[in-house]
Amino acid sequence: MYVIFLGAPGAGKGTQAGIVAQKLGLAHVATGDLFRQAVAKGTELGLKVQSYLKEGKLVPDDVTVKMLLERIAAPDCRAGVILDGFPRTLEQARALDKALADLGKTIDRVIYVNVAEDELLRRLSSRWICRACQAPYNAVNSPPAVKGKCDRCGGELYQRPDDTPETVKKRLQVYFAETAPLIDYYKRQGKLAEVAGEGDMAGIGQRIIAALKEAVHR
Ligand code: AP5
Ligand code: MG
Ligand code: ZN
Repeated sequence: MYVIFLGAPGAGKGTQAGIVAQKLGLAHVATGDLFRQAVAKGTELGLKVQSYLKEGKLVPDDVTVKMLLERIAAPDCRAGVILDGFPRTLEQARALDKALADLGKTIDRVIYVNVAEDELLRRLSSRWICRACQAPYNAVNSPPAVKGKCDRCGGELYQRPDDTPETVKKRLQVYFAETAPLIDYYKRQGKLAEVAGEGDMAGIGQRIIAALKEAVHR
């Protein structure tokens, strides 16, 4: 099963992918997490992409598509994958469709997590992330059990350098210009399921799982 989680910065893609991947036994592949890990390690890829992340701009399609296709070819992705934060442009979506078609596969479902803009801003200004496993927390909505420490792995929590007010503004602009058109792209393919992304996190997860089960039984 190949699933895409689509939505604005702060919509809860990472939060929900964490919940749903574990429940359904799917791999969680987040291009933003992969880029941040590359930057932290100082790899060649990390050096290439760090200024884009810092400024809230999209990494070029060729670099992103290559990294993503290599990642989903790994053995842990065989049972299925949740793509979190990819594709983000029409070019990426077309490249993904083509690469999957070459393998005789296809995207099964696209979950569009819809959240109002003022709520996105509130969430991102109070988000904390685990440096080791990238799990997201929120100082207001979902604090860790021990301040500054990841519940899952004990790693140190930090605030993403692109969660500053001006970079968030840029990321939202980029989202509406480059990524929001994908909603229509997948609607036309009959694959889009819109899920209301506000309120109780577990409830949102249940709605997503229900939309995925429906896709399997179609
Ligand atoms: P990326 O890491 O993908 O960032 P993003 O899309 O901006 O999304 P976020 O991670 O900010 O939001 P999210 O939806 O995951 O929300 P979360 O679950 O954390 O990309 C970063 C950068 O990498 C890009 O700017 C770009 O440079 C590059 N990049 C990545 N992919 C790329 C691609 N395909 N092409 C080109 N460049 C690419 O939740 C947010 C907060 O809200 C948390 O604090 C959480 O605890 C809280 N929260 C979650 N759910 C709820 C709820 N129901 N109620 C209240 N609070 C909630
Ligand atoms: Mg995320
Ligand atoms: Zn952790």
